[in-house]
Amino acid sequence: MQRLQDRVAVISGAASGIGAATARRFAAEGAYVVCVDLAEEAGKQIAEEVGGEFVQCDVSDEAQVRELFDGVAARRGRLDIAFNNAGISPPDDDSILDTGLDAWERVIRVNTTSVYLCCKYALPHMLAAGKGSIINTASFVALMGAATSQIAYTASKGGVLSMSRELGVQFARQGVRVNALCPGPVATPLLMELFAKDPERAARRLVHVPMGRFAEPEEIAAAVAFLASDDSSFVTASQFIVDGGITGAYVTPL
Ligand SMILES: NC(=O)c1ccc[n+]([C@@H]2O[C@H](COP(=O)([O-])OP(=O)(O)OC[C@H]3O[C@@H](n4cnc5c(N)ncnc54)[C@H](O)[C@@H]3O)[C@@H](O)[C@H]2O)c1
Repeated sequence: MQRLQDRVAVISGAASGIGAATARRFAAEGAYVVCVDLAEEAGKQIAEEVGGEFVQCDVSDEAQVRELFDGVAARRGRLDIAFNNAGISPPDDDSILDTGLDAWERVIRVNTTSVYLCCKYALPHMLAAGKGSIINTASFVALMGAATSQIAYTASKGGVLSMSRELGVQFARQGVRVNALCPGPVATPLLMELFAKDPERAARRLVHVPMGRFAEPEEIAAAVAFLASDDSSFVTASQFIVDGGITGAYVTPL
């Protein structure tokens, strides 16, 4: 069954990791996928692979985001799904004691303000149609504290989670569902790069995952496809956790 047949989906951060895996999954389920990213070459490649289109856009820039969603709605005549997923996790975001205001503001802008902007400019098109599904990528760190801190990242994802919850509540009776996706650590370039520099930190993280491994991006994409489709028609304002058991664990198996 093609759950997303003829749906138009916008995916930010589609050039890599979770976004790229989701672009492939959405397309496999029948959707037309608009692949959004800063990275032009990789973004175009994915768009071509999935038979969609690439739009270069900085999702932290209001004018570009407005143009993105208005442009998609004008060109395709509809907007069914927005997967607001672009995010950064830079190495200069660390303990609060060492993290400067520049890193803090950059991370909040790219990870949280971008979600505010994407929701703000996607929602009118969905409300006009009386239907839509928005999925915002938060993280399990929005739910639990880590001793190996990335303070701005964690705060940014808390913002995404609570914003998504409130939007889900506000628009529930108008047919638009909004959910926060909370992935556990995924084996993507973002995380691998960070952990390659610090294997001790990687090992420390894995200890807390009952499944004893990082997720594959495809495993996250499967959850996003569920949230995007009508199979999740009674799911909104949720914190949708896909974390290999991390947030459920007190002690993990050896
Ligand atoms: N990898 C993990 O373990 C993990 C865990 C939980 C949550 N997440 C979140 O999942 C999302 C995707 O992460 P990923 O691991 O696939 O990362 P990734 O680095 O593989 O991909 C992120 C993409 O976002 C793009 N991007 C960054 N800033 C942008 C901007 N301003 N405008 C447009 N595009 C921009 C990048 O070019 C990149 O292609 C992020 O929000 C991340 O915080 C990741």
